[in-house]
Order: sequence, then C-alpha cells, then structure tokens
Amino acid sequence: MLRRTVRELAEAKIAPFAAEVDEESRFPQEALDALVAADLHAVHVPESYGGAGADALATVIVIEEVARACGSSSLIPAVNKLGTVPVLLAGGEELKKRYLAPVARGEAMFSYALSEADAGSDAAGMKTRAVRDGEHWVLNGAKMWITNAGVSEYYTVMAVTDPSAGARGISAFVVEKSDPGVSFGAKERKLGIKGSPTRQVIFEDTRIPADRIIGAEGTGFKTALATLDHTRITIAAQALGIAQGALDFALGYVKERRQFGRPIADFQGVQFMLADMAMRLEGARQLTYHAAIKSERAMSGEKVADLTFVSSACKALASDVAMDVTTDAVQLLGGYGYTREFPVERMMRDAKITQIYEGTNQIQRMVMARQLLK
Ligand code: CAA
Ligand code: FAD
Repeated sequence: MLRRTVRELAEAKIAPFAAEVDEESRFPQEALDALVAADLHAVHVPESYGGAGADALATVIVIEEVARACGSSSLIPAVNKLGTVPVLLAGGEELKKRYLAPVARGEAMFSYALSEADAGSDAAGMKTRAVRDGEHWVLNGAKMWITNAGVSEYYTVMAVTDPSAGARGISAFVVEKSDPGVSFGAKERKLGIKGSPTRQVIFEDTRIPADRIIGAEGTGFKTALATLDHTRITIAAQALGIAQGALDFALGYVKERRQFGRPIADFQGVQFMLADMAMRLEGARQLTYHAAIKSERAMSGEKVADLTFVSSACKALASDVAMDVTTDAVQLLGGYGYTREFPVERMMRDAKITQIYEGTNQIQRMVMARQLLK
C-alpha cells in the first residue's frame, strides 16, 4: 500500500518535473512540497518526535519509489535521514526534541557534513576544528560536497576537537544555517543528480552553544560511521529506484519500437538483456531489504553483528547493478536512448553517483573485507 501511494504521488507530482530539474540544475521544490504535503519527506522520524515513525524498510520503499521518478528528489527523504540519524543514535533528549520535530513537520531539512576537500575516503583526515570557549564551541574550516547545502536548515558537522587523538579526537555537532559565520560555496556543476545542490559549507568563527554537541566529546567519528551503517542502505534504495525507472521505461519502449518488421522485444538478444537486468535488480533489492530489516532491529536496540557488512554490501551491489541496468536501458533505446528526448540517459548519469557517495564502492569493499577478516 505504501509503495502504491508513493508511486502514484511520484508519477503525478515528481516525474513531470524530473527532466526540467535536471536540465536547469534547479532544486525540485515541487517534489519537496508534494512530499511534505503527503508526510513522506522524512518518514523515518519516530512518532515520539512528531514523525511518521516508518521503519527502515518502509523508508527504503519511499526512497526507492521517489528515485524511480527522479533521482535528485529522492535525496530529500534520504538526506533528511542521513542528517538526523547521528542525533537519533547519539544525541541527548533535548537535542532530539529541538531538532527532530521541525524536520518531521517539514519546516526544516537536515544535511550531513563529514567530507572535506582533502578528506573524502579518508574521512578521519578532516581538518575542520571545533574549540571549546566557555559555554560555546567555535568552529573553523570547510566541509565539501554537502548534499542539500543551503536548502537545509540544520547540519550534522564532524569536527576535530583533539588533534592529537586521531579518529578519537573528532566530535559531532548540530550547526544551524543561521549560525554566525556559516556560508556556502557555489553549487557544484555535476554529471547527474543535478537537482540536488552540492556545495561547500564554510565555518568562520562559527560560535554555537556547548549543548549542540552530539554525544560525548571524541565520539563523533564513531557516530558518523555508525550512521553510515544505516544510511548506505538508503543509497542502495536510491540506486534500485533509478534502475527500476530505467528498466520500466525500456520495457515499454521495446514493445513499441519496430525493426526488421517486428517489435524489437521479439528478439532473443533483447529479451536476454531484459531478463538479466530484472534478475540482477531483484537480487540487489532483496539484499537491500534484508539490510533494512537488520538496520531496524539495530535501531530498536538489538545488537546486529553483521549490520556494517550488509549495509556496505547492499550499497555496493545495488549501485553497481544500477549503473549496469541504466547503461543497458540506454542501449535498448539505441540512438534515441542517447538523447535528452528520453529519460534513460538522465537515469544513467544519476546512477553513477551511487557508486561514489556515502563511501565509494572501493571503500565498501574495504569495509566488507575488514569485517570478514576481523
Ligand atoms: N560503527 C561504529 N564505529 C566504527 C565503525 C562503525 N561502522 N567502523 C569503525 N568504527 C570505529 C572503529 O572501531 C575505530 O574506533 P576505535 O579507535 O575506538 O577502535 C574508529 O571508528 C575508527 O575506525 P577505523 O580505524 O576503521 O577508521 P579509518 O580511518 O580506517 O576509516 C573508513 C574507516 C571505513 C575508511 C571510513 O573512513 C569511511 O567509511 N570512509 C568513507 C567516507 C564516507 O563514506 N563518506 C560519506 C560521506 S556522506 C555522503 O557521501 C552523503 C551522500 O552521499 C548524500
Ligand atoms: P577520494 O577519497 O579522493 O577517492 C578517489 C579514488 O580513490 C576513488 O576511486 C576511491 O575509491 C579511491 N580510493 C581512495 N582510497 C582508497 C583505498 N584505501 N583503497 C582503494 N581505493 C581507494 N559528503 C558528505 O559528507 N556529505 C554529503 O552530503 C555528501 N554528498 C555528496 C554529493 C555528491 C554529489 C558528491 C560527489 C559527493 C558527496 N559527498 C558528501 C562526498 C563523498 O562521500 C565523497 O566524494 C566520497 O566519499 C569520496 O571521496 P573523494 O571524493 O575525496 O574521493
């Protein structure tokens, strides 16, 4: 029922703008409005903080169905989850009440700021500093590649509080867009997900109250990685949705397009491509749902030993499958697939990012191997 509801909404209110959002590299405001009106913009926020209280699997289905229509728009529910999970996992009750309710109401979005220009895969190599000054923290530095920067009201920011302690000297904070000394870089000009703004977030003597720290001092890197254990699953969901959109479009096209006096769907070479696309997509989907169920159990307090493994595995698998499926969808449309008259080239460009962000697929393989070998 949830899937049907989101699909109908996405087809009616998000898909019609997807090409324009991509072409003009503009934020999909129509999608945000429609998602907020339907209470689908941050479904994961627990009911106790005014949210819809959807579990991790339901959240995956929402993201998947939005991504099937528009990859950029799916980063609204996905990044609202990414930004808020550190608060949910490690924040005190006051912080949760103050920052989760406005997100649940659709009044504020929440971004996640870990990466820096010289610290991407090696996230612990960050340089942004937070220094305690009485009842405040003062932040200086710049975070790079921050999704929905400028649009979001709130940011989970990881910063170094003890430079001598390595990863154990990093802490997490909630920073507001309106805090002093916060500014944003220019929008990156990207290959895909062009509707989702990606910008630097810059801190110049940004003074925030001491109680904006998330969890204990020095635990920020662990919170950041524990968050990714839950949210790499949402990137897998985005990849699945983009790939499903491309497969569905190709399925319609091959029945209509005629060559050699018959629909190209009659050719076994085309049929085998379709079968492989659907088979691999369904395999990746099942692993993602399996990981989502584990994520929900972990969120409910259960110790789930292999969450880190399955989260990385589904993200790497689903994004690799999405890249292959969208590339094959372009192939199935022939020359038409290569043009902007049809959505599959956009889907192929959008799919590429899912192999890169929330940890490249090389990093996912490193995480999986570490889990296997430890
Ligand atoms: N949960 C909790 N703690 C964890 C953990 C996990 N999954 N994995 C490791 N830790 C702990 C370790 O136990 C260690 O703590 P101790 O020192 O107390 O033992 C600490 O964290 C440091 O761990 P490592 O030594 O393994 O750290 P590392 O420096 O080798 O880095 C890494 C590990 C896996 C490479 C990590 O840096 C990483 O995931 N890099 C990729 C960065 C990334 O994914 N960025 C995503 C940015 S967000 C984004 O991109 C958003 C978007 O798309 C929309
Ligand atoms: P690098 O770390 O420089 O990697 C370059 C290449 O080297 C990659 O192929 C990588 O896999 C490979 N490599 C690096 N180390 C190893 C290794 N040990 N073994 C094998 N191969 C390795 N970050 C945020 O914090 N918040 C966001 O909201 C956010 N949104 C993003 C949105 C977009 C559109 C983009 C492009 C990025 C976003 N990121 C965000 C950052 C993203 O997580 C990083 O780009 C990513 O983690 C890779 O870091 P890097 O770009 O510095 O690449």
